[in-house]
Order: sequence, then structure tokens, then C-alpha cells
Amino acid sequence: MRVLVTGATGFVGSHVARLLVRHGHEVHALVREGEAEDRLAEERLGVEGEKVARIRGDLLEPASWSAAIDAGGFDACVHLGWYANPKDYLSARVNVDLLNASAALGARLVDAGCRRIVMAGTCFEYDVSFGFLSESTPAGPRHLYSACKRSLFEIMSHLVSSTPTSFAWTRLFFLYGPHESRGRLVPAVVDALLAGEQARVTTGEQFRDFMHVADAAAAIVHVLEHDELVGPVNIASGRPVRVREVVETIAGILDAKDRVAWGAVQARPNDPGFVCADVSKLAASGFRAQHDLESGLRDTIAWSKAQRASALRATQE
Ligand SMILES: NC(=O)c1ccc[n+]([C@@H]2O[C@H](COP(=O)([O-])OP(=O)(O)OC[C@H]3O[C@@H](n4cnc5c(N)ncnc54)[C@H](OP(=O)(O)O)[C@@H]3O)[C@@H](O)[C@H]2O)c1
Repeated sequence: MRVLVTGATGFVGSHVARLLVRHGHEVHALVREGEAEDRLAEERLGVEGEKVARIRGDLLEPASWSAAIDAGGFDACVHLGWYANPKDYLSARVNVDLLNASAALGARLVDAGCRRIVMAGTCFEYDVSFGFLSESTPAGPRHLYSACKRSLFEIMSHLVSSTPTSFAWTRLFFLYGPHESRGRLVPAVVDALLAGEQARVTTGEQFRDFMHVADAAAAIVHVLEHDELVGPVNIASGRPVRVREVVETIAGILDAKDRVAWGAVQARPNDPGFVCADVSKLAASGFRAQHDLESGLRDTIAWSKAQRASALRATQE
């Protein structure tokens, strides 16, 4: 397929774009001007980067991409581009702009005859008080971010009805792995312990559903390639683990259990105790993840070590 990918320079999108190339698809990435393009080619996409065509544009400026979509003849689109800075993404006003831009992108693709559209939502669209969250769990977004994602899902579902375009909405839960943003749990703990410092964490009582980003990317590509999967699809492991277990596993692998400062960080007020997925829909379609928590964290730690080694080499040259 000729596939348009947004967010291909990102944590999830770079894994998705690489996999699409490996699966023999023709990948066209919408990328903003600037250093992201270099990252796309070199750091994140590796050898597959050379096979990714670039469309220069900004989601927030439809004039920069509309003509490319009209003329592009895309069979499919994976739309992952969004603002995801851990510092403020839950409340940032740009969520509203991205909702508008994404709906405009979806409408344009439908009008242009794109047959398959896959977009990314979040577990926080759900009312998380319901226990295991299935695709039919009632909505209950608590933040501007998740409200905008939920709205985009609703808009897209209406837009594609009575058209030949099939649409799937992948709801991602908690991902970790190479290239995750530094401020998040797994890289923060791994970086601190690799640097010989203390890892300052909460007591880690919350249950979460963690998945290695490579598995999440494989699941998104799997959804793209299975037209029968329409509507919302949870992308997660289906296995609840305490945050404490994640930290303990990392510390165990690095032989640094004595350097975890439990309770040094306060849990966020109103942080839900249990956010885990029912993954029956994804599993019934034949998808199987490659990593369990231990192997996924080992892979992530190995990547972080390699990054540190190459950064050290760069300073010595
Ligand atoms: N990571 C998770 O655990 C998680 C969980 C739930 C849902 N999601 C969803 O998954 C998707 C990908 O998230 P991520 O973690 O990979 O985020 P990320 O690493 O921050 O990547 C975001 C991507 O979106 C692009 N982007 C942002 N604003 C743009 C704009 N105005 N125009 C064009 N491109 C723009 C970025 O491009 P630049 O490189 O130019 O900045 C980057 O490629 C998002 O939709 C997010 O909501 C992620």
C-alpha cells in the first residue's frame, strides 16, 4: 500500500514507519521543517529511513499538506502526529488545534478516496473506574487531551460512514521502549540507575498496562493490514502490573535495587489505581506481542546503554 504516516519522527511513529517499510509498503511521512527530518532519517528510522518519502508540512497548517493529499493517491493513512510532551500534554491548548487539524486531515483523506485510515487514541478516553477497559467501556475523559482524542474518534466514525473508507481507532495504553521521552517513568529510572544515581519514585502501588513500543507499533501495523478491524481497538498487553514491579524489574536487571528511593516522589493526586486493558478484540484478530515485561525492559536497557556509550564516544572525539 501507499501509506501516509504522520508523527513518523516520534516515539511510536518511527517504529511504525520502519515496520511498514519492512512489510513492503510505500511510506510517505508528513514531517515538519527542521531537525526532525534528520532524526527521521538517521537516528530513528535507521536503514529503512532512506525508503521513506517526505512531505514537508505542519498538521496545524492544512495549506501545507492538503494538495499533497489530493494528489498523493494514498491507499492508507496512519495518523499518529500529536503533541505529547509529558510536562503539559494533558492540558495544553494545542490539543484543540490538533483535533481540528486531524478532523480536517481525515475529511480530506476520505474525499480523496483513501481506503483505510488508522488513528491513535488513548486509554484515558475511558471512564477508568470500570476495571478492565474494553472498547465498549463508557467514555469518561478527564483531561483536555483525552477529550479531544475522544472527539476525534466520534468525528471520524461519522465522517467515514456511508463512504468506502474503513476506519480503525487504536487506543494505546502505557508504552515504553527505545526513544521514549526522557521525563517518563521507564527512561527516568533507567537513566538514573545507569548514571549511578538514585531512582526517585513513588511507592508504585498503581496497576498499569505496559507494552513495549515495538509491539505497539506491530499491533498498529497489524490493524492497518486487517480491514476487518474497524472502530476502536485497544493496543495493550492485557496484563496489569504494579508500577513497583516495573521499577523493581529494571533495578534487578541493573543490580541496583539498593538505589531505588521508594516514596521519594509523591503520587499525583487522583491518580487512578488501575488502568488496564481488555485486549480480546486485538487477540481475536490473531495479534501476538513479542515481548513480556522482563524482555521488553531488557531490550530498553540495552538500547539506553548503547545510547550512553555512543554519546560518550562523541564527547571523546
Ligand atoms: N506514547 C504513549 O504511551 C502513548 C499513549 C497513548 C496514546 N499515544 C498517542 O500516540 C501518538 C504518538 O505518540 P508519541 O508518544 O509517539 O509522541 P511523540 O514521540 O511526541 O511524537 C509525536 C509526533 O507527532 C509529530 N507532530 C506533533 N505536532 C505536529 C504538527 N503540528 N505537525 C506535524 N507533526 C507533528 C511530531 O513531530 P516532530 O518530530 O516534528 O515534533 C512527532 O513525530 C500520539 O497521537 C499520542 O497521543 C501515545
